[in-house]
Amino acid sequence: MFDQLSPAPPDAIMGLTDAFKKDPHPKKINLTIGVYKDAQGKTPVPTAVKKAEEKLLREETTKSYLPIEGTPDYDARVQELVFGAAHEIVTSGRAATAHTPGGTGALRVAADLLHILRPGTTVWISEPTWPNHPGIFEAAGLKVRTYPYYEPRSHSIDFAALTKALEGAAAGDAVVLHACCHNPTGIDPTEEQWRALSALIHSKGLLPFFDFAYQGLGDGLEEDARGLRLFAEYPGEMLVSSSFSKNFGLYNERTGAITLVTRSAESAQTSMTHLRRAIRVNYSTPPAHGASIVTTVLADPALRKEWEAELKGMCRRIHEMRELFVRTLKAKGVTRDFSFLTKQRGMFSYSGLNKAQADELREKHGVYIVGSGRINIAGLTTDNMGPLCEAIAAVLRD
Ligand code: LMR
Repeated sequence: MFDQLSPAPPDAIMGLTDAFKKDPHPKKINLTIGVYKDAQGKTPVPTAVKKAEEKLLREETTKSYLPIEGTPDYDARVQELVFGAAHEIVTSGRAATAHTPGGTGALRVAADLLHILRPGTTVWISEPTWPNHPGIFEAAGLKVRTYPYYEPRSHSIDFAALTKALEGAAAGDAVVLHACCHNPTGIDPTEEQWRALSALIHSKGLLPFFDFAYQGLGDGLEEDARGLRLFAEYPGEMLVSSSFSKNFGLYNERTGAITLVTRSAESAQTSMTHLRRAIRVNYSTPPAHGASIVTTVLADPALRKEWEAELKGMCRRIHEMRELFVRTLKAKGVTRDFSFLTKQRGMFSYSGLNKAQADELREKHGVYIVGSGRINIAGLTTDNMGPLCEAIAAVLRD
């Protein structure tokens, strides 16, 4: 079976990190995968997380299995972060949440559930999107179609083309929307566009499926939930996948959740029985540690305050790096206008550099960015800013 194999292509993002590790370039810079770095270039464990871990170490009494859907406390905290504690979806009990291994686990579990309940469902994803999206949905047996998203000349959403594509979707199709910090473009819909999208998606009987991986890293915890909460004004169904990799710095703890918003508390309970089955045949029960941290931090007012302040600090640093990036490019003699980068939100800069330029950055300068031109702005520091901008200036001159 294995002797006949030729190698599979490397992962569009993780593969570059593997290549980076092998690169002997003395001043190499990795700006591929979405991992936050502080001003010193380290990926910190937030202090609130460390304190929660100390508490867990002291107080934990067992490592017995969690329920298939995780603990009720964690699931309730997730809903509170996504919708707000007083939201009708939360208080009415018409949402069912399960703890999953990361946001990817949430997307896959939801995809499996869609395939069980409505085999062969079509899922619409933006073009461009996170490169793992199509693979996750296809692996679950769903059909994937794309809607245009980005207009490169104006660096904004091509809303007319997006709407036209979704007009062609059939009732029951799912539409994946990035709740905030669109990956890779960093361009989110305006409030008016969110409203128009909600009207279109609901009038056509499509299923909104929010990928919420960056809550708090765009403009703030509440601000980043605005689009999703506008959709939630409509009393319909919706899926939300949450990830705490970035906002809690819990990347390797694989901590996420899937929330099914249904039309009634009764439907939520019944839906949960199907969700449990989809999870049980996949990874059985979730890993506890990351979710225990999230629950501990959110339940303790002092820890929560500390975490929120740390998250605000991360968000601020990203904004500062965007501004510095644009200024430094100019200072290094780049004449192309990059000011649009300051309008983008989240961890990534969608730079407008093409695949050939990304290849040249890597091959000649040891600077690793994703082939789409996506740069992990959260990995920029005052130390690597100069070399990065000099390399970009050189590539643009070429
Ligand atoms: C990214 O887009 O870099 C992140 O979502 C991390 C990942 O798993 O790809």
